[in-house]
Order: sequence, then structure tokens, then C-alpha cells
Amino acid sequence: MSRKANIAFSKLAAPTKGTVVILAGEDRQLGELALQIAPQALYDRAFKAADFSGKAMKTVEILAPHDSDLDRIVVVGAGKREAMKAHDWLRLGGTAMAKTGKGGATVALDLPSGVSAEDAAAFAQGMMLRAYEFDAYKTRKKDDDDNGEETGKSVDVKIAVADASAAKKAFAALEAVGEGVLLARDLVNEPANILGPVEFAERASQMKSLGVEIEVLDAKDMKKLGMGAFLGVAQGSTRPPRIVVMKWNGGKKGEKPVAFIGKGVVFDTGGISIKPSAGMEDMKGDMGGAAAVTGLMHALAARKAKANVIGIIGLVENMPDADAQRPGDIVTSMSGQTIEVINTDAEGRLILCDMLWYCNDRFKPAFMVNLATLTGAILVALGHHHAGLFSNDDTLAGRLSAAGDVTEEKVWRMPLGKEYDKMIDSKFADMKNTGGRFAGSITAAQFLKRFVGETPWAHLDVAGTAMSSPQTEINRSWGSGFGVRLLDELVRGHYEK
Ligand code: BES
Ligand code: ZN
Ligand code: MN
Repeated sequence: MSRKANIAFSKLAAPTKGTVVILAGEDRQLGELALQIAPQALYDRAFKAADFSGKAMKTVEILAPHDSDLDRIVVVGAGKREAMKAHDWLRLGGTAMAKTGKGGATVALDLPSGVSAEDAAAFAQGMMLRAYEFDAYKTRKKDDDDNGEETGKSVDVKIAVADASAAKKAFAALEAVGEGVLLARDLVNEPANILGPVEFAERASQMKSLGVEIEVLDAKDMKKLGMGAFLGVAQGSTRPPRIVVMKWNGGKKGEKPVAFIGKGVVFDTGGISIKPSAGMEDMKGDMGGAAAVTGLMHALAARKAKANVIGIIGLVENMPDADAQRPGDIVTSMSGQTIEVINTDAEGRLILCDMLWYCNDRFKPAFMVNLATLTGAILVALGHHHAGLFSNDDTLAGRLSAAGDVTEEKVWRMPLGKEYDKMIDSKFADMKNTGGRFAGSITAAQFLKRFVGETPWAHLDVAGTAMSSPQTEINRSWGSGFGVRLLDELVRGHYEK
């Protein structure tokens, strides 16, 4: 079990016990409620001592205030009202969560300018995301971390706000999305001995209970479909591969679906082109794309999105073995195009090419977006702060960029072009699976592009953002769940009626 927060909303009233979190606006402005909790003089003194101005995300703690039964008052700065964007409310919630001890807290969301139901819901989602901790395998209490709480325990939070029922309603959708993010984080954090292709497929299948249609393809099915590129990667592992097709039919009957495809390499040793051992443990996260697609499908189903959505994840382990494929092997993809495997460590594109072809062929989607921890080169180019975006469609690319700005799951568009495409021509087959030292992320994208036809398509290279990404107000986990909020925003903003 990972640590989560239990969040409930209630009417605005001054809490009298435990830990209470309140907001202060710019120039240390407090809401009326704050003054029912403690006198202005107490705040003035604490603010002065802590040199607190009310700037957003700054905090002050007042311990055991005199003449009250409260344990602590935590004041969180909310800064300039006009400057607060939706995402900043998430960050505020995260900041508040970080200051909440094992006993939980009551948050009194009040400001002189008021706090809307939407702001309160975003704040709650921020708390939820920050509370998450993957401590499933810790059997002992940690005494020396932030709060010293027991593992697997959840934190109870009550958020008091002016219109509690409106906030609760607004939070329902955001909570669904938050759950999707946490599911994606769990999947990425889980070690590969526990989460193999079969186990991952089982986890995804649990979404049946949300009304998601699930189909699981095994190696035999893939063989029948002619997925020679996918199966070439799988043949080095004793654990059999799976493809999971998830369908959420929340839109109009007969309306074209949108499709999301995820790379789910549960562990990437590199295969015969084996990786160096230093840091190889991180390759348990090489299924970050599949985790995001799974989390997204959970989010969309749990909030009953009014859209027809297909999610496809390819689950496989890349191992060196007597049966593993070799450099120089030539495989035939489902499309009929042949591929010379120059490097068995460029396995992500080999599984994606068959999934993209299959998805396009079977579902004729309005667009396809694939997510993959595809190249180390994208880390060299963009670090941990943007995912690489490659697309054959300016409208789709623009919408993804805009969704990135709103959610702060940022993407940066990279170029495609025939000069790069030429770099993957092969002497012996239609193409090879690596394009040489330079432009490694782009040649990987060019490879995928050969399998999408005319369908609007975008590839997100999330090698730098899905795991060991920056620690923020709303994420302290190694697996970030990157992509779930981004793609939920894309669907919500453009594909729901
Ligand atoms: N899974 C890796 C990419 C990766 C690297 C993800 C670092 C996360 C962090 C991928 O399968 C891979 O090995 N790519 C190779 C491609 C190369 C052989 C052309 C790479 O990036 O080195
Ligand atoms: Zn990989
Ligand atoms: Mn690899």
C-alpha cells in the first residue's frame, strides 16, 4: 500500500482542535475565519518573526497557540489573487500537505477575496498528489523522515470551504484524475520482479469495474496478427508478453475514438546489446508510457468522460538470453515493412511500431498519441523539465503544448524531416532500428512515423519526465505519473461534448 490522503469537505467553521491550515493573501491578509481561530496580534507577531509576507507557497507555523486547544496553525501564503492560476492552487494544496503531520489536519480555505469551489477542488487535488508516498515495501517505521508516520497509513484531511457541496462536486472529477496519477506512479515505482507483463495486464484489467472494456492479447494473438517486431523483443524473456486494449465508450455511438498507446517495457536490460550496470535499476521504469496510458484510462472512466477513447499498452521484458534476438536480425513488422535490428536496446520503437499499426488499422482513430520512455537522448536535449513532442499534425501538437502549459506537464516540440528519416534507411531491410549517434530522439520518432500513415499522431518521449523527475510541491515520488493530467486536459478541452 502506498500512502494516500483521505479528503472530505465541510462547511466553513473555525476548527478548535488538532492542526489547522489557513491561507494568507498578499500583504498578509487573513480571512475572517483566521481571526476566529486566533487574534490578529498572534499572527502579526508570528509573521514578523518569520519575515512572512504572504508570498505564494511560503509558510509559517504557529505551535500550540496560547488560550486554545489547537496543536498548530499552519499559515500558507497565497500571494496575489490575480496571479494565481489553476495549477498554483494545486501547488498550494501540495505545500499545505507537506506541513500536515500524521494526525491529519483541518484546512480552513478562506481569504478576504473568497475561495471558489474550483480553487478548493484544485487545492484538494494538490494535497492528494503530495500525500502520495510509495512505501509498499517498507516494513519498519521511519522515525527520521518528515513526520515519522507509519508506512501505508493514510492521512485524514478535512477541507472547510464556503460552498462545500460545490467544492465536493468539483473535486469528484479532479479526484478521479488524481487517482489516475497515483495509479501511474504506483506502476512505475513497482519493481520488475513483482510487475511483469502478466501482472501489469492484470492490474490494467481491474479497470473493468469502472466500465472499461478490456482485451488482452498474448503471444499467440500477436503472432497471428504478424507482430514480428514486437515478438522479437519478447523472445529473450521467459516471461510472456501482453498487449492490453482498453476501451472507454463515453462519447457518442459511432464517433471516431481517440487513441493513446504506451511503451510498457517492464524491465530494459538492453538485451544482447546489454546496458552498463550502473543505474540499470532505473529501467524498471521503462513502462512509464504504459503506466500513464493506464492512469489516463482510469481517470477518464472514473470521471465518466464524454469521449470514446482507446488505450493500448505493450507489455514486455527486454532480456538477454539464448533465445534473445541478435544485432543484425531482420524482423517483419505487422505493416509488412522489414526492420534490421542494429541494437537490441532500441526495443521501444520495435514494440510501438506494431502497436501503432494495429491501432490505426483496427480503430481508425481521430488521432494517436503514444507515450514512451524511448531515448536517453531526450534527457540530453531537454533534461527532466519537458517531454519531447514529435508530431505530424500542427493542430494536435498545438493542443498538447497548450495542455502542457495549463497542467505544468510541459512538452517541447522537436523537429521531424526527411533528412532525419534517411538516417534510418538500412542496407539489408526497409529500415534499421537506430540512426547513429546524432539526433537520437528524432531518428527514433522518424522510425515511429513510418507506421502511422496519414493519421494525426504525436509521440511523447517521456524518458526524462516519467521517472526520477523533479521534486515539486505536488510530487515527491520517483515515478511521477507524468502524462495523466496532460492528456486528461487534452481530452477534456477538445474531445468531449
Ligand atoms: N529505455 C531506454 C531509454 C531510456 C534511457 C529511458 C534513460 C529512460 C532513461 C531505451 O530503450 C533505450 O535503451 N534507448 C537507447 C537507444 C539507442 C540504443 C539507439 C538509448 O537511448 O541509448
Ligand atoms: Zn527501453
Ligand atoms: Mn532500451
